[in-house]
Amino acid sequence: MKILIADAFPEEHLNRLAAAHDCAYEPDTTADQLAERIGGCEVLVVRSTRVTAETLRAADALRLVIRAGSGTNTIDRDAASRLGIHVSNVPGRNAIAVAELTFALLLALDRNIPDNVADLRAGRWDKKRHSRARGLFGRTIGVVGLGRIGLAVAERAAAFGMRVHAVAKPDRDDETLERARAIGITFVADLAELARTCDVLSLHLPSAEGTRHLVDRDLLAQVRPGTIVLNTARGDLVDEEALIEAMDAKGVRAGIDVFADEPGTPTGPVESRLAAHPNVCGTHHIGASTEQAQLAVAAEVVRMVEEFAAGTVLHCV
Ligand code: MLT
Repeated sequence: MKILIADAFPEEHLNRLAAAHDCAYEPDTTADQLAERIGGCEVLVVRSTRVTAETLRAADALRLVIRAGSGTNTIDRDAASRLGIHVSNVPGRNAIAVAELTFALLLALDRNIPDNVADLRAGRWDKKRHSRARGLFGRTIGVVGLGRIGLAVAERAAAFGMRVHAVAKPDRDDETLERARAIGITFVADLAELARTCDVLSLHLPSAEGTRHLVDRDLLAQVRPGTIVLNTARGDLVDEEALIEAMDAKGVRAGIDVFADEPGTPTGPVESRLAAHPNVCGTHHIGASTEQAQLAVAAEVVRMVEEFAAGTVLHCV
């Protein structure tokens, strides 16, 4: 099979694919270049590079797109399905990495690490300014979404002595409820109550019709002054203008790894009022960017390619 890998991919797994297939490795491909390079390829593997309808139309031999991560919002799935191109993802393999970054952002915000570092780098010693942390022990974190990442965040929060709240939902499976019980999660009635009762609101839902702007003006009106909002899920979960207003009006702070408008390629210019806001500790959508996670994702991609080559139909979760 001819395979195009259009984002960075670990060497050992690349070698495994190249040993069995005609493999083109073009990790710096931009979304615009993809349409020119896709001709003749049967399988496309992408991480951050967007796959547009135009690219899919130019793909004369494409049968499968694998998104080397959980979310498939960077791929025009409607166009793919119209063209009979299968889209698959790799859920779960990077959950711990995302949970770890969520905690890194939380600790960085509570201890004001970015400004601490900036002051020291500029030769300023200002212990008073940097001695205002609230601490995490005994605080309440509201975890929105109890999938693999949300549960991993909840477990880490409990280990820090935080109280963990989540919204009660009738359709949670037994395994999730069992893990929630073991963690000691308290279920509240709805998102508004979650927002009212927590010191930290952490988002762990996919991008979907029903999750767009879940954190909007109405919800932010419920949070207490100084609440920390964490988004390591998808940018469109948050109404960014509403969050900026809440940061200006009541000192909300935010740890943000994902933005509404991210470059469709691994590198690119970014203009974001949210990223530039002093109350934001922002990162480059790097939740999944640990060596461990990327090796695990790549191993799964190799397994999926082999299954596909053997005729198995892959599923997108
Ligand atoms: C995901 O969808 O799992 C992450 O966005 C993946 C990534 O950034 O690699």
